[in-house]
Amino acid sequence: MNVLVIGNGGREHAVLQALKKSPKIDKLYCMKGNAGTAEIAENVNVDYMNAEAVKKFALENPQIDYYVVTPDDPLAAGLVDELESIGKRCFGPNKAAAQIEASKAFAKELMHKYGIPTAKSATFDNYGDALDYVRKEGAPIVLKADGLALGKGVLICETLKQAEEGLKEIMLDKTFGSAGNKIVVEECMRGLKYTPGEEVSVLCFTDGNTIVPMLTSCDHKRAFDGDKGLNTGGMGTFSPCPFWNEQLEKEVYETILLPTVKAMNAEGKPFKGCLYFGLMRTDKGMKVVEYNSRFGDPETQVVLPMLKTDLFEIFQAVTDGTLDKIKIEWEEGACVCVVLASGGYPVHYQKGKEITIGDMGDCTLVHAGTALKDGKLVTNGGRVLGVVAKGENVEAARKKAYAAVKNISWEGMYCRSDIGVKYREG
Ligand code: AMP
Ligand code: GLY
Repeated sequence: MNVLVIGNGGREHAVLQALKKSPKIDKLYCMKGNAGTAEIAENVNVDYMNAEAVKKFALENPQIDYYVVTPDDPLAAGLVDELESIGKRCFGPNKAAAQIEASKAFAKELMHKYGIPTAKSATFDNYGDALDYVRKEGAPIVLKADGLALGKGVLICETLKQAEEGLKEIMLDKTFGSAGNKIVVEECMRGLKYTPGEEVSVLCFTDGNTIVPMLTSCDHKRAFDGDKGLNTGGMGTFSPCPFWNEQLEKEVYETILLPTVKAMNAEGKPFKGCLYFGLMRTDKGMKVVEYNSRFGDPETQVVLPMLKTDLFEIFQAVTDGTLDKIKIEWEEGACVCVVLASGGYPVHYQKGKEITIGDMGDCTLVHAGTALKDGKLVTNGGRVLGVVAKGENVEAARKKAYAAVKNISWEGMYCRSDIGVKYREG
């Protein structure tokens, strides 16, 4: 079988690294990919947001048997529907199901309608009504632009003044473009033990009937140590989550995972693919912060290396609706990913800096924003590389990852030094 993965980042490189282990796969492709994906797959230079161009490529390349669509924007735009319309087999939700991430208003309505635990919220498409509601509820309060906004459309407002300004930015100034045509105003949740709150990412495989959680992981969204600085696409991850246990998994399965799958079916939007639950542990139990219709980045980089089962077999079972027939197994121990970023990320940064890489020990390098220029490896994005290490526990994996990080450099490179430290006390 020949398989093509759509996307350019670290997540896609990690998916390809896992697929590479499958004895069922002859050749891998990546559209468009990066310098790392080029080492294990053939990079295809087609714009995946142009559905007509992708379909043309698919028709001209009948040797490709299976497509994996991982980024949020082609999923929201219906690329899976387009590929299926010409008879191609895919991993990823169709356009209707991808709404669970593409519209926060849809996701909140789904949770409220089906009793899935989440923060209280109200949705507005009118600035005046939203302002009245924010003033009535008071601070702290959370504002969320409805649509996709590169993970930046969420404002946690500690004061009423911040909330009023945020509302204006999203709804009147349109800082996030049309993503701000509608707004979700949400109660600010607080964590059980930690401030601002303890969060866990639960990525799941689902074929629309069966849902199987993967190992849990924790992301670090802020740019700097101690969760300071601006929100980023994610500066590092570790797996498993220290406060996770069997009892919590049972609670989450019964109150959140299965009810979400059933709710999507009841709405006539069965979800097939990877459904990502961003959860918070609160004093009132586990609650949903967000849904994503895809693998997380950089969560995938720490979850898939621990998978013992053939990933391609799982993908096919998801497509065929036979996920209940396979056993999904994981390695013991822990995994850590430290993201190395360009100086200035997530705001302004330069590209084209030459990267030098020394001894990586038994760590794995995951490429995100990299390219080859005149035969040299150079930076080509904000998040450039992920260093992934396994160990018998998070601390051991973390030590290994940071030892390897010391042997990588380019002008302006930075990373957080505290990946894998939080929630240590469980
Ligand atoms: P989202 O893009 O929905 O994941 O939101 C980004 C981040 O904002 C989350 O990871 C949380 O840290 C935080 N957040 C979102 N919604 C809430 C909420 N209702 N209460 C507290 N924190 C929140
Ligand atoms: N790591 C968060 C995300 O993929 O949305």
